[in-house]
Amino acid sequence: MELLGTVREIRQAVKAARLAGKRVGLVPTMGYLHDGHLSLMREARQASDFVVVSIFVNPTQFGPNEDLSRYPRDLDRDLALCAAVPVDAVFHPEVGDVYPQPFLTSVRVAKLTEGLCGASRPGHFEGVATVVAKLFNIVRPDVAFFGQKDAQQLAVIRRMALDLNLDDIAIRAVPTAREADGLAMSSRNVYLSPPERQAALVLSRALKAAGEQVAGGIRDMAALADSVRAQIAAEPLADIDYVSIVDYDTLQPLERLEHGRALAAVAVRFGKTRLIDNCILEAQ
Ligand code: PAF
Repeated sequence: MELLGTVREIRQAVKAARLAGKRVGLVPTMGYLHDGHLSLMREARQASDFVVVSIFVNPTQFGPNEDLSRYPRDLDRDLALCAAVPVDAVFHPEVGDVYPQPFLTSVRVAKLTEGLCGASRPGHFEGVATVVAKLFNIVRPDVAFFGQKDAQQLAVIRRMALDLNLDDIAIRAVPTAREADGLAMSSRNVYLSPPERQAALVLSRALKAAGEQVAGGIRDMAALADSVRAQIAAEPLADIDYVSIVDYDTLQPLERLEHGRALAAVAVRFGKTRLIDNCILEAQ
């Protein structure tokens, strides 16, 4: 496994892989890897011949009140996990290499970024779309892997790739990896105190119940969102940011689901830690 710290080096490595006829897979991450990332990497290992993992804590997706310096980092551990998968290359650039100064360009995907997490994290998805567009241009993968847990991010990246003619890069969604008790895996889980971690189980429980209700024939999504909200609100340590049921592709609020797919998405604070989770609701 190669550890490559510059845009020039990763480009050379990918070029050599491509000349050897290899299919290139990219797993973009911000490091502090957990089993969720590992499932993306394993999927990439299966679906491509040259797997690149990027580890880059992207400053432009952090808001002024979100502590970038507090984001957990452990490169040595991350490299050991990558080597164990195994992946072929880890791209770990410096901020200055990704964002030469002055940096005057950004990618903003309208509409899809306005609701859900976009409402309380202005500029976040602009930072995500910008860095992913850059990673796509730097690595030029055949296929890129993203977790379903970040469903809004996934929708934004799909749209960005389509709108910017990066549609020769296949985007693969990988199901949310969960702890045995249902908690969605996240780098932020390490911040939860034991009581907060226990309380956070209400998210997966409430979302699972919503899925069961739709499978049982419930079609009124406004009422279903109210019932998910009430279930989460009953947990004293939960401070709700949003509970929404939206159209799966447009992310616009949905009153009824007669057929097709919807997304039930939640963002909830437990102490200082804001967690997100979601589930896909399907009606035939
Ligand atoms: O999901 C993440 O870890 C980040 O948002 C991503 C896609 C690596 C962009 O920085």
